[in-house]
Amino acid sequence: MKKFVALMMALILALSVCAVASAEGAKKVGIAMPTQSLERWNRDGAYLEAQFKEAGYDTIVTFSNNDNDQQVRDLENMLSQDVDLLIISCIDSDGLNTVLNDAADKGIPVIAYDRMIFNDAVSYYVSFDNYTVGKLQGEFVRDALDLDNAGDKTFNMEFTGGAPTDPNAFYFFNGAYDVLKPYIDAGTVIIPSGQNEMGQVGTEQWSTDTALARAQNILGSFYGDGATVLDAWLCSNDSTAAGVAQAIESDYAGDNAVIVTGQDGDIANLKNIVDGKQTMTVYKNVANEAIVTLAVAKAILEGGDFDGAAFAAAQEIECAYDTESYASSEGHPTPSFLLVPTVVTKDNLDYLVGTGLYVMGDDGYLQAAK
Ligand code: BGC
Repeated sequence: MKKFVALMMALILALSVCAVASAEGAKKVGIAMPTQSLERWNRDGAYLEAQFKEAGYDTIVTFSNNDNDQQVRDLENMLSQDVDLLIISCIDSDGLNTVLNDAADKGIPVIAYDRMIFNDAVSYYVSFDNYTVGKLQGEFVRDALDLDNAGDKTFNMEFTGGAPTDPNAFYFFNGAYDVLKPYIDAGTVIIPSGQNEMGQVGTEQWSTDTALARAQNILGSFYGDGATVLDAWLCSNDSTAAGVAQAIESDYAGDNAVIVTGQDGDIANLKNIVDGKQTMTVYKNVANEAIVTLAVAKAILEGGDFDGAAFAAAQEIECAYDTESYASSEGHPTPSFLLVPTVVTKDNLDYLVGTGLYVMGDDGYLQAAK
């Protein structure tokens, strides 16, 4: 009898373990990243996959080579594999409407990850405060040039923005431009190329080569005589800053140090910061972005009431709950969780080491922590 009870207990235990495993394991999460060609999305993909797997979810992770049609196919494929939730960092915010309508028809919730998608199928947006990212870049240039005390002095600068299909590119550019506009209007800051709108400064696919070619062109056309000093080049992110820094090295006639901004803390750009070819990067801890995304996903998948503000306040990671700044193209608010970016320069590289995600190499350059 004792043996029988023990056997039954073991069976019940095994069954309940199975129930837990299958309750968690049965949930499948599709994670769609834009491309592997830009450093950060490899990190995002890896962190998200690790977070979700560790929490007991099945995952499908795709990178769509910066090709919207490919991303649509990848998402349709996820839907056909009966995912329970989609996490999407889009390539073209306007290019996903049909597949998102399919997701909505199937009742599959969607989290827009890092890049906003203006569709009612999106339940939540998890990102950083991207207008603030641009603002930090603009303020950095303002303070580095001491524009408030410029007197009669004038400064020359140029802008390089991001992919026009990525809503973030507009938030970054607007955040930076809003800070610098008063100085441009006052004539303290001059843009010799005259290119000061996203339609002119945008960079398809955030490509380093495209940013390089445009910068070479501008340097040749407007700074070629060596008489026009280039004081600053505001780049929205690190992949474009890499191209601009390369152009300054090869094609700029002047010998002054040019202020170059960036964003992401890519390894190659951190090296450029140490070497003085880039001046700053706005760092966004994407490991934390993945943690917040998992927490939001759990809340969605577990159902029940979800108090976003209380939830954001309870996170260990600083994160604001915003129900006003983002809305679908149908005009419905998209509740958002926005993490906080940090300025990194040569002087506070330790901050990155402190995240545990970077280590200082013997050569004086940062490397990704293993
Ligand atoms: C991200 C940036 C990134 C850029 C290019 C943006 O949507 O927010 O961190 O540099 O895409 O990958």
